[in-house]
Formats: sequence, structure tokens, C-alpha cells
Amino acid sequence: MAFAALLLTNCSSISKTSETKQLSNLKDVFKDDFLIGTAVNVNQIQETNPQLTEVEVTHFNAVTPENIMKAEVLQPEKGRYDFEMADQLVDLAKQRNMVVNAHALIWHSQLPDFVRRMKDADSVRHFFKDHITTVATRYKDKVYSWDVVNEALNEDGTMRKSIFLDKIGEDFVVEAFKLTQAVSPETKLYYNDYNIEQPKKRAGAIRLIKQIQAAGVRIDGVGIQGHWNVNNIPMKDIEDSILEFAALGVDVMFTELDISVLPNPLNESTADVGAHAEYDARMNPYAGGLPDSVQNKLANGYESLFRLFLKHKDKIGRVTLWGVSDADSWLNDWPVRGRTNYPLLFDRELKPKAAFHQLINIKKDVSSNQGTNHVQLK
Ligand code: G3I
Repeated sequence: MAFAALLLTNCSSISKTSETKQLSNLKDVFKDDFLIGTAVNVNQIQETNPQLTEVEVTHFNAVTPENIMKAEVLQPEKGRYDFEMADQLVDLAKQRNMVVNAHALIWHSQLPDFVRRMKDADSVRHFFKDHITTVATRYKDKVYSWDVVNEALNEDGTMRKSIFLDKIGEDFVVEAFKLTQAVSPETKLYYNDYNIEQPKKRAGAIRLIKQIQAAGVRIDGVGIQGHWNVNNIPMKDIEDSILEFAALGVDVMFTELDISVLPNPLNESTADVGAHAEYDARMNPYAGGLPDSVQNKLANGYESLFRLFLKHKDKIGRVTLWGVSDADSWLNDWPVRGRTNYPLLFDRELKPKAAFHQLINIKKDVSSNQGTNHVQLK
């Protein structure tokens, strides 16, 4: 892929590292296919753990802030913005030659208290416009892309009830893209959601994308979050989604990939941060370690997914893991607090897992006649 190649040639220190470790670095192994991203938090931005830093710079060429660019962090009080961590992140990413996918401008969750307390439409509209304009302007030449709107849909494809739907109306999604485009014309603009590979919710996302396009507003991509369970990775729905979204002329991204190995105590498959269940030891079966059988199943799940991604690499711009190591995953505390999950590619000691090795190995036997990636990330 043109953009990924540019990244490597532009940074001599990182490219030297890459050359010496060519066959074992994720970002190099997939450099002609799609960007490989990870989520980052404060400790990673402050580089508190050198071993973690080493893994990040070795394997990833894209970062998404897991929390520090959410509205409650950037604007904790009305009109008082706190850009300290976000500024550090974009500087660090630049030094490391990584692209930043900023996350997220408009999301019903993690809103500042002052917004959640708002009763009148004018106040919500003011926050909406001011927040988007201020934040997107500040980072306009510093981030590669924005998740402009996050999780606006219900499972049946209808609009999720939120303060934005309630006070601004269905047009809030189009409006958010329009405002962002106006102040940040060069930045890629994405809609991001979980379960949008599922047919009904996918239809809702397609409807939103078409609405944005019909309004003459730019949308560059759609992010399928990819919070899946090892016992239920919906491969056919994922492939159908890649094809249907790409047919709309937008890039497809897998933006928050992780695969839970634990039982799901909820009645549905969701990544709604508001969902919770009580702790129960039966729901935490691998507190003492992950059996090989499950480790292998996880590895096979990742392998199947990446084989599918490679099959459609001409439509896929980026695959981002939602964290580096199992120790840092949100899935240790969601939807049940205090469990031990194993959803990522590196273990708690930051050692690559079987899943990692299988991903590296699949490129060895993927036919070279698939051509190069046609998605132009620039
Ligand atoms: O901010 C407090 C901090 O002051 C305190 O020290 C700490 C102690 O527990 O809690 C901190 O807040 C937590 C925050 O993560 C930062 O660690 C919140 O309680 C916790 O709810 C929050 O969880 C994040 C969640 O979004 C809500 O923002 C997860 O880390 C993050 O992985 C998750 O990410 C979302 C995506 O943004 C959207 N898609 C779904 C995905 C998973 O839910």
C-alpha cells in the first residue's frame, strides 16, 4: 500500500529496525496490505514501560487513542479544553512515524457531565458545534483520520436513543461530518460502530453512509469495530459487510479488533460499554492460565480473520487491535469486572502468542498473485 510504504521510507531508524526483523514484524509483514494499528493509553504515551514501547514501535504503524480523545477528557468543563495528553500523543506518533486515527468526536457515551445534564436543544447544539470545530481544527494537520461519529445505531439498524438524536435529530450524523470536513478538509472521516457486520445493523450503517453522501458531504470510511468472541466470529457477515460497504465507495477498516475467550454473560453479542453483569467464578474459567486448546482456537480465529482481510485487502485500509497485551484489554473488566481475558496478540509478559505467530506465517503461503492494495491512504 502506497501510504504504508511511505511511512517506512520516511523514518530511517524505524525502517532499519524493520529490515532486520522483516519477517517477524506485523507492520512489515502486512505493509503491502493494510496499516496495522493498536489502541494506546496514557501509560503508553508517557512510555512508562520500555518493553511495551518496543513492542509498539516494532509491530504497529497506526495508533488510536483508547480514551484520551473522548469528549469527557478533552472538554471536562464547558469551554475548558484539556489537550495535554492528545498533544503528546500526536507528537509521539509523528516521531515514531505512526498515523493517528483520532477517536471519537461525537459519541453518546463518555460525555462530560455538563453535557449529560443539558436539557435544552440550543445548549446541545452549541456543544456539538463548538466541540467538533475546536477539536478538529486543533488536530487538522496532525491526525490522519477521525472517527467522526461513533455508535449511533441500535442492533436493528434504527438510530440509537441519545442526547444528539433527541436534541438535534437524525441529521446529527450528517451535520457532524459536515462540520468536521469544513475545518479539517484533508483528514479522513469515518463512521465507526460495533456489530455493523450484522445484517440489520449493517443496513443501518449503509443508510447513514448514503445519507451523508446524498447531502454532498464526504465520508471516507467505515470502521467495523470487531469485538468478537472466539466461539462466534461471524465470518460470512464480515465478508458480506466488506463487500457491501466497499461498494459504496468507502474504505473499510477493522478498528477495535479483539477476540474474547470468556463466556458471555449477556443475552446478546454487544460491545456497549453500558452493559454489565455480576462477577461469577464460572464466568472466569481461565484465571489460572489459558489451556492450549483455547489458545489454539484463538490463534485459528485470528488466522481466519486475517486470511479474509488479505483476500479483500484492496478494500481494507487498516486493521487495529484494541490494545497491545492481554494485561491492558478493556475485556478484563467488561462486561464483568475482574476477569482474566486473553483477547490480543501479546500475553501479559508482552510475549507474542500463538495467534501472533500464525498471522506472521500466513503471509508465507498466501498466493502472491493477489495484486497490491488499491486503497490509497493519503
Ligand atoms: O478516568 C478514570 C480514571 O480517572 C480512573 O483512574 C480509572 C480507574 O478505574 O478509571 C478511569 O476511567 C476509565 C477509562 O476507561 C480509562 O481507563 C473508565 O472507568 C472506563 O469506563 C473506560 O473504559 C473505556 C471505555 O471505552 C469507555 O470509555 C475502555 O478503556 C475502552 O476500551 C472503551 O473503548 C470503547 C470504544 O471507545 C468504542 N467502542 C467500544 C470500545 C469498548 O467498549
